[in-house]
Amino acid sequence: MKIAVLAGDGIGPEITAQAVRVVQALGRHGLQVEVESALVGGAACDALGDPLPPQTLAVCESAQAVLFGAVGGPRYDTLPRAMRPEQGLLRLRKHFDLFANLRPAIVYPELAHASTLRSDVVAGLDLLILRELTGDIYFGQPRGIRRNEQGEREGFDTMRYTESEIGRIARWGFEAARKRQKRLCSVDKANVLETTQLWRDVVTEVRQDYRDVELSHMYVDNAAMQLVRNPKQFDVIVTGNMFGDILSDEASMLTGSIGMLPSASLNAKRFGLYEPIHGSAPDIAGTGAANPLATILSLAMLLRYSLEQPQAAERVEKAVRTVLRKGLRTADIAREGEQRVSCSEMGDAVVAAL
Ligand code: IPM
Ligand code: MG
Repeated sequence: MKIAVLAGDGIGPEITAQAVRVVQALGRHGLQVEVESALVGGAACDALGDPLPPQTLAVCESAQAVLFGAVGGPRYDTLPRAMRPEQGLLRLRKHFDLFANLRPAIVYPELAHASTLRSDVVAGLDLLILRELTGDIYFGQPRGIRRNEQGEREGFDTMRYTESEIGRIARWGFEAARKRQKRLCSVDKANVLETTQLWRDVVTEVRQDYRDVELSHMYVDNAAMQLVRNPKQFDVIVTGNMFGDILSDEASMLTGSIGMLPSASLNAKRFGLYEPIHGSAPDIAGTGAANPLATILSLAMLLRYSLEQPQAAERVEKAVRTVLRKGLRTADIAREGEQRVSCSEMGDAVVAAL
């Protein structure tokens, strides 16, 4: 088994280093996984002038899965768009057709207090956001900034979904719900946007094959409100690329910290890219304050979905629960007065718990 590790920018190298230590620890217990690193994002731009150089793509292609850190930073924000670190990630998603993005939001009992919401609102939350990842306004053409007839600059993007793109993510949504509480909520803006009217129609059609799953539809503005009003009403949410981007950041804060949320991006062959949903956090890069748990939990998803090693995945998740129970806290999940551990100390603890 082989995985590609793309650390990227900001806190990316610190957090992926801890996940690699977990891979090595599993190796000492009989699970051999080869790790090959490659450059991506701003780091790749600096070294090779391309956020996704061909040699990085080759490393990913030679692996069964990719463990991804984070990309981006203020230093790169003025580069032409094609050279920006984010393009490294977006091109990887498109290249491997990683259309199904799983973003689970689970509230660990030890961290219910860390949420800015009342703990009775979030305690016990177990929600899965399924975000379509290769279509929508993120990739729709045409797009650009042009001069209109009045000589004024005008920016434009295109929201676009085909029925096959909607159908395949809807199916994943129903399948996921079937393995859980059998409730799927499809989020759209069908009261205003044609693209999402088609979304709603197709999801409703696909439901014919999943009569055992309860389907509801919700407008995205209401969904944003319901997520903070009563998040436990949701089991699985399926939505498009842009709404999923926004709602998953919102959902992360129900769990106390964006530093806790892993994700998996899969294609039809179950090749996957696994990454924490937080970004490169340039403000804390190099300080040791980053929380490596979202990356370590992403590794657990990688073990489960792409390497088909469910027992190893469970061991990693159990080790994370153990360190939380023991009271280890990085700055993002520490309460006032609680002692804080660094990124590598959290890694030490997870390895020890394994
Ligand atoms: C995410 C991120 C990315 C996105 C950025 C870095 C391009 O916010 O994975 O949620 O918008 O998809
Ligand atoms: Mg995002």
